[in-house]
Amino acid sequence: MPAEHVRVAGSLTDRRPSLTGTEIVDHLVPPRQFRGASIDNYQPDPDYPSQAEAVDAIREFVAAWQPARGGLFSRRKAPKTLPGIYLDGGFGVGKTHLLASLWHLAPGRKYFGTFIEYTALVGSLGYAQTVKMLRGSSFLAIDEFELDDPGDTRMMSRLLGELTASGTRIAATSNTPPNALGEGRFAAQDFLREIDALAGQFTTIRIDGLDYRRRDVEGHAVSVADDAALEQAIADLDGNATVDDFATVISYLGGVHPSRYAKLVDGLQAIGLRNVTVLDHQTDALRFVAFVDRLYDAQVRVVASGVPLDAVFAEDMLGGGYRKKYLRAISRLISLTSGAPE
Ligand SMILES: Nc1ncnc2c1ncn2[C@@H]1O[C@H](COP(=O)(O)OP(=O)(O)OP(=O)(O)O)[C@@H](O)[C@H]1O
Ligand SMILES: [Mg+2]
Repeated sequence: MPAEHVRVAGSLTDRRPSLTGTEIVDHLVPPRQFRGASIDNYQPDPDYPSQAEAVDAIREFVAAWQPARGGLFSRRKAPKTLPGIYLDGGFGVGKTHLLASLWHLAPGRKYFGTFIEYTALVGSLGYAQTVKMLRGSSFLAIDEFELDDPGDTRMMSRLLGELTASGTRIAATSNTPPNALGEGRFAAQDFLREIDALAGQFTTIRIDGLDYRRRDVEGHAVSVADDAALEQAIADLDGNATVDDFATVISYLGGVHPSRYAKLVDGLQAIGLRNVTVLDHQTDALRFVAFVDRLYDAQVRVVASGVPLDAVFAEDMLGGGYRKKYLRAISRLISLTSGAPE
């Protein structure tokens, strides 16, 4: 009975992801997928020595948090490390994994969020209140540092300056920069130039390598045969789920700030997307990419009908400046739909 399905499954558009500043702060922890990430379960690829070097540099950064052992006389001179570390590299090389590992090792009060979440926090609390809230913490992790909005970059740079001055240590990862069709080789230099006065406080670490999820990319996103199969697949799952038309979700996402997408999908086991069609507009496509990132972080299963989700981005977009973002989203969509029945 369709009416019952609607009640059981609900609609994404009925979820009101409003967030207070305190709620944003409560969300400043690593996504579910990285709760168990550690330096020990990161496996450096022997073909890319920069991965093992990154682990060494991270261990050195962490050493500053470990209490000196052996009393006054045997205490070794603590190695001098800078308060900041910047992990730069292509997609799927384990940047977020290593960032979460650092967060787990940090003592006391600590935060983990994406650049967008921190800017949303400042937007919600105001700058002064944000500084007050974050000051005195031992560690702040910023995933996917964005450089495309000069105002935001300046604001974040100032915020980080105030925090490092009060003793907070910082780690950040590079975002996939537009037009970085290769490996984004100059991202670290861009970061250092943009954060200007803070540049001397950061050690940059370059991580080369292949996408750890690369095996997924070879598959295809599963598309269920029709709406009835979709509803059935959703009904067969335990836990909360939503079912919506793809077009409805795309237009709904336009009215929700991307920093709230995490809350939008919070607690969902799966989402159903009916009648997926190719996205022709870049704004819609980039919003959908941000939404997919949050689905992936929370490991929300996707059951979809219509065009398979690995074909959702129009060809000309795949050839454009955001190619890497789209490819990453495709890799994530293949993985999220793979549990669905064919
Ligand atoms: N060397 C590794 N050893 C173990 N697990 C890894 C390694 N590299 C990546 N992973 C795992 O692969 C997945 C993708 O890695 P992660 O998300 O950290 O990469 P990333 O560099 O942040 O990529 P993205 O560009 O997607 O943000 C994660 O589940 C992570 O735990
Ligand atoms: Mg990442």
